[in-house]
Amino acid sequence: MPPQPPQPPQPPNPSHPSVHTNNLQPATQLRSPISPHTSYPQSTIPIQSIQQSQVLQQPSAGSRSVKSHVSPIEVNPVTVKKCAELYENLGQVGEGTYGKVYKARNRETKEIVALKKIRMDPEKEKEAGFPLTAIREIKLLQQCKHGNIVQLKEIMVFQGYVYMVFEYMAHDLTGVLANPKVEYKPQHVKCLMKQILEGLAHLHENGILHRDIKGSNILLNNRGEVKLADFGLARQFDIKHKHDYTNRVITLWYRPSELCLGATEYSWEVDMWSVGCIMMELITGKPLFQGKDEFSQLESIFSLMGVPNKSEWPEITDLAWYAMAKRIGSKGSRFREQYGMLSSGGLDLVEALLSINPSKRPSAREALNYAYFTSEMPSACLPAELPEILGDWHEYESKQKSKKVNP
Ligand SMILES: Nc1ncnc2c1ncn2[C@@H]1O[C@H](COP(=O)(O)OP(=O)(O)O)[C@@H](O)[C@H]1O
Ligand SMILES: [Mg+2]
Repeated sequence: MPPQPPQPPQPPNPSHPSVHTNNLQPATQLRSPISPHTSYPQSTIPIQSIQQSQVLQQPSAGSRSVKSHVSPIEVNPVTVKKCAELYENLGQVGEGTYGKVYKARNRETKEIVALKKIRMDPEKEKEAGFPLTAIREIKLLQQCKHGNIVQLKEIMVFQGYVYMVFEYMAHDLTGVLANPKVEYKPQHVKCLMKQILEGLAHLHENGILHRDIKGSNILLNNRGEVKLADFGLARQFDIKHKHDYTNRVITLWYRPSELCLGATEYSWEVDMWSVGCIMMELITGKPLFQGKDEFSQLESIFSLMGVPNKSEWPEITDLAWYAMAKRIGSKGSRFREQYGMLSSGGLDLVEALLSINPSKRPSAREALNYAYFTSEMPSACLPAELPEILGDWHEYESKQKSKKVNP
């Protein structure tokens, strides 16, 4: 698996207490009802101090009985009590940087959901213990509802953890690509790419950068719908200005060369590079650039796409670590020679997405207008026509399976 991107400063990672099997903890362990004067145990911290009071407003099976005159923030612990009784844990499906993800069943409605469990940090008084990544993820997910973006159904706070309740998606692309029985034909790749780009176009048009596009953050359900997930590194941006951000984002294998070279002023172009990597991965079945560190990532990119020079990319000399690029020497692109078996529309699109100069990459909306989608045959199949996948295939399960084979 690719090395993870260095993360923004975080509180020390607390060890996760053992998973509650079959059941979330019984509701009797919570104190309720909540009044404005209640002194709260850690598991029922009110979160008024969080700026996004809309966080808990979505109605859910678990909060139906909550009276509407109570503010959404104050009802939170009550919602929790109901939800704790409501969800049956069906097993872990994900393990990420900040927590675990479980498949769970709503006991009442039988609906299957995904619960992303993130530890609260009692030291963070200002945010009432809410981890920053969770706040960011919740805020952004609520801002950008779209058929190709995973749906956040509600939030629970329980026993020192935040649970984000999502619609359940049976697979992610890393898991699917590890399944030897799944074979994607050109019309299938086109269908997956189209949906990824629709989701990303929506994000970018709403001023959001994802900054961690990779297979395990692209989910797929059994209706063939693709949805972007994991907004833990996402950020708001202003289309008219480049922002000064950290370059320590995007998992190394999907990270564009400008970030490896230290760029801190960037925009949606960084996500488009990652999409180019994903397109190649869908076509060939394996990640395109597999560096061990930033330098070898650059070497791997430049040896396929060519080493950039000042005339093609004048701004390269402004980048902090430009000297690293110079060390690699000069080489031309070998991309067309190596991937000549791709359709001409496919080659045009992927080559544009993988432009070393970020200003030459198309936007997600422009990419959707390439001949690859609009006129080249075969056209994209419908989501429902994608190959059927038996079982659940996420990166987590595929890692567990490969551990069993190669302990
Ligand atoms: N809604 C969901 N349905 C099913 N599985 C999910 C869902 N959301 C996340 N997962 C699984 O859990 C993994 C980790 O979740 P993610 O949101 O990416 O968190 P992290 O920030 O920890 O990587 C994903 O790679 C995916 O396999
Ligand atoms: Mg993830």
